[in-house]
Amino acid sequence: MKPLRVLIGCETSGRVRRAFDALGHDVWSCDLLPSVDGSNRHIICDVRQLLNDGWDLMAVMHPPCTRLCNSGVRWLTKPPQGKTLEQMWADLDEGAGLFSDCWNAPIERIAIENPVMHRHAKERIRNYQSPAQTVQPWWFGEQALKATSFYLKGLPKLVATNKLTPPAAGTVERNSWARVHRAPPSADRWRLRSETYQGIADAMAEQWGGFALKQVAA
Ligand SMILES: C[S@@+](CC[C@H](N)C(=O)[O-])C[C@H]1O[C@@H](n2cnc3c(N)ncnc32)[C@H](O)[C@@H]1O
Repeated sequence: MKPLRVLIGCETSGRVRRAFDALGHDVWSCDLLPSVDGSNRHIICDVRQLLNDGWDLMAVMHPPCTRLCNSGVRWLTKPPQGKTLEQMWADLDEGAGLFSDCWNAPIERIAIENPVMHRHAKERIRNYQSPAQTVQPWWFGEQALKATSFYLKGLPKLVATNKLTPPAAGTVERNSWARVHRAPPSADRWRLRSETYQGIADAMAEQWGGFALKQVAA
């Protein structure tokens, strides 16, 4: 069967790229920054420059969202120290513009990972639709708690592959499952917090790749 042409946008870790690559797809990652693994299948550019290049499937792995998500809405009325309100609204326009361009790209199958958005963000996105699903890493065999929402177009919801049972609230074990949220401040904290879990990356490649392959071959 002919491999799929797959674009993984906004990814430096290479996690999702490698999961599709392991299944034989013609997959490329793209980010404004270099990839951590030094792969020659990584393109350093604005993902918007690649949207018209004939992909079968695109997954955008958590484009910058601090100004779009519910937790950031307070900054739109009271900016953080060192920032102006004007800057905060400009950041919102920039983040919503990137999401909107990816969401409306001429690609049949699109997945975008992003938290649930506030109303100002939704209003700025062309053809906005609610996230199709919110998953947890522990649905995919990972001992971790982190709600992850997917906006999906032309792709099915991910199905759990190995559901674990999270430890009870208030226990030391549960705190260790939430470790990514609690990572101490460091230059790499944002990277650690936003890296896709292996179990989720594998499920994307198997389930979305398998689904798209059948459609393309039909
Ligand atoms: C929250 S991180 C996502 C990391 C990803 N989950 C991973 O495993 O590498 C957001 C990424 O989006 C990238 N980014 C921001 N704007 C972009 C753009 N216009 N085109 C491509 N990448 C962009 C950033 O450089 C950053 O690496």
